Amino acid sequence: MLERLHDAWRRSDRLFGLLADEAWLEQPIPLRHPFVFYLGHLPAFAWNHLGKRVLGEPTIDPGFEDLFERGIDPVGVDAYQPHASWPAIEAIVAYRDRARAALVAALSGPRAAPEAESVSAMVLEHELMHHETLLYMVQELRHELKGRPAGWPELPAPAPAAAQSLVEVPAGTIELGAPRTETGFRWDNEQRAHRVEVAAFAIDRRPVTHDEFDAFVAAGGYRERRFWNEGDWAWCERHDLRHPHSWSAVRRGERVVRTLLEDVPFELAASWPVSVSHAEAAAYARWCGARLPTEAQWRRAAHGAQDSQRPWPWGMTGFDATRGNADFRRGTPTPAGSSPHGASAWGVLDLVGNGWEWTATPFAPFPGFAPDPGYPGYSADFFDGQHYVMLGGSWATDATLLRASFRNWFQPHYPYVFSAFRCVRDAR
Ligand code: AVJ
Ligand code: FE
Repeated sequence: MLERLHDAWRRSDRLFGLLADEAWLEQPIPLRHPFVFYLGHLPAFAWNHLGKRVLGEPTIDPGFEDLFERGIDPVGVDAYQPHASWPAIEAIVAYRDRARAALVAALSGPRAAPEAESVSAMVLEHELMHHETLLYMVQELRHELKGRPAGWPELPAPAPAAAQSLVEVPAGTIELGAPRTETGFRWDNEQRAHRVEVAAFAIDRRPVTHDEFDAFVAAGGYRERRFWNEGDWAWCERHDLRHPHSWSAVRRGERVVRTLLEDVPFELAASWPVSVSHAEAAAYARWCGARLPTEAQWRRAAHGAQDSQRPWPWGMTGFDATRGNADFRRGTPTPAGSSPHGASAWGVLDLVGNGWEWTATPFAPFPGFAPDPGYPGYSADFFDGQHYVMLGGSWATDATLLRASFRNWFQPHYPYVFSAFRCVRDAR
């Protein structure tokens, strides 16, 4: 576990190293804190939960441990309370190094608290999730304020997407939540395991691409109220939206798509899964006469099989780079459906990696849910009907988080996530 924490910390430092010195106070996503917060949040969270709560160690810096305890997810920009001043970067780095050293010392010590293992795993997963959240923010930051780290992956070669088709999934059951037989850390929202019936349906073989979404844009999809539900239409009108957020940049009159470090020609990204908000994904689906999959449909398409269930879409063996675009092997999406070794029992592609996929299911507790007493707000604070379940993972999702039961969630008008989507229809 210490080794895994060290690896995560090394990546944290590498990702914060993308930022120019002038970038710390930038807040490229108005619903999130400036970068400086996250520099302090990771060590303060680790020390609060693992150092203090579980290992019984003393406070290192009460001010920091309060200031950096929790991030924000306000529903409106109005709810955001800016801080008048943030501590100096050098002071936060010094705190980080003290907290890490103290954790290493406490975890290497002889008296292992019974909870230390699972809370270490929680702290690890928290750090790994923040790598991805940090990268959404870096993507929104002006490109002049970031550098390209040595050894960062090159852009993928232009290539077509796999052919799209509708895959029929027969009626059957799927177990949602963490299976009882598995060991290891699970978040509160993954519990409890329970089986649900899923009627037959048909699902896109791979996610919707930029090119395909462009047809919706060209057909006036953003001007037609009937494709949008009421709240989504109000949002679309209020912001006068006309295309996906990532298409906003226009260079020399040429259309470009924003990626983490650079804007790329539309033609290069045309075959990648398009990254849009839940609202836009649902409008596209309605335009096609289709819908977004429910959580249970998506899971059955991914992990169901004729008479069984698999821990991974492709079977029993864990993730590797041939299965999909995840775990930081790349720095952008790749052409949709280009990992045939990642196909599910039904032949559905891109279920692990290449973009967190929106579902039609509001984020809510499973039957028998109980909040983690040590971190009661992790999920429960978001059971508000204003967040939707997202499944799968993206290029920036660590392999640790790619398990079948892992649930992500975001607000329906949040366009910044490394997202993707596909559609479902009734079975023929
Ligand atoms: C599960 C990714 C939605 O980033 O808001 C990090 C994870 N929670 N710190 C988020 C999280 C607290 C969360 N998501
Ligand atoms: Fe956090």
